[in-house]
Amino acid sequence: MSEPERELRVSKIRDGTVIDHITGGQALNVLAILGIDGDEGVGVSIGMNVPSDKLGTKDVVKVEDRELSQGEVDVLSLLAPEATVNIVREFEVVDKKRVERPERVVGLLTCPNHNCITNADEPVESAFGVVDDGVRCEFCGEIVREDIGDHLAVH
Ligand code: CTP
Ligand code: ZN
Repeated sequence: MSEPERELRVSKIRDGTVIDHITGGQALNVLAILGIDGDEGVGVSIGMNVPSDKLGTKDVVKVEDRELSQGEVDVLSLLAPEATVNIVREFEVVDKKRVERPERVVGLLTCPNHNCITNADEPVESAFGVVDDGVRCEFCGEIVREDIGDHLAVH
């Protein structure tokens, strides 16, 4: 099948954000990062495990009438290092950016260590340093590796 035919699996959008080249299987975690659970009435199209020349298979998430905050892009980069974020206006891609790994992520992840100060009833915001093999809690040193999507702070 040619590439244009493959792309027709998920139709084009008029205005919004296309997050492309998401690591296969991470689309639902990407929706969680964006805080989208379907109740908002936002138009969302999802392609999961669709063929990709670059990645073998990939996920794609298209969100209408919405752009991403820098914090959302930072966490996205941890789950989907190859992702591209495309801004679409009047059907045209007007901006395309690769995600970049941030140095640290504040307030967007939760620490898996139940004894960590960030999990006590204290006004302490979570903070993780980004290390080679994952993210490291700046308070207790706990490292989260593969399952970062399971530690998204609800917002
Ligand atoms: N897209 C969309 N709606 C539009 C325009 C583009 O959903 N109105 C999607 C495309 O289907 C693609 C992504 O946005 O998944 C990026 O579009 P484009 O830059 O045109 O595609 P490519 O050149 O294939 O992107 P790349 O080089 O990043 O692979
Ligand atoms: Zn911790």
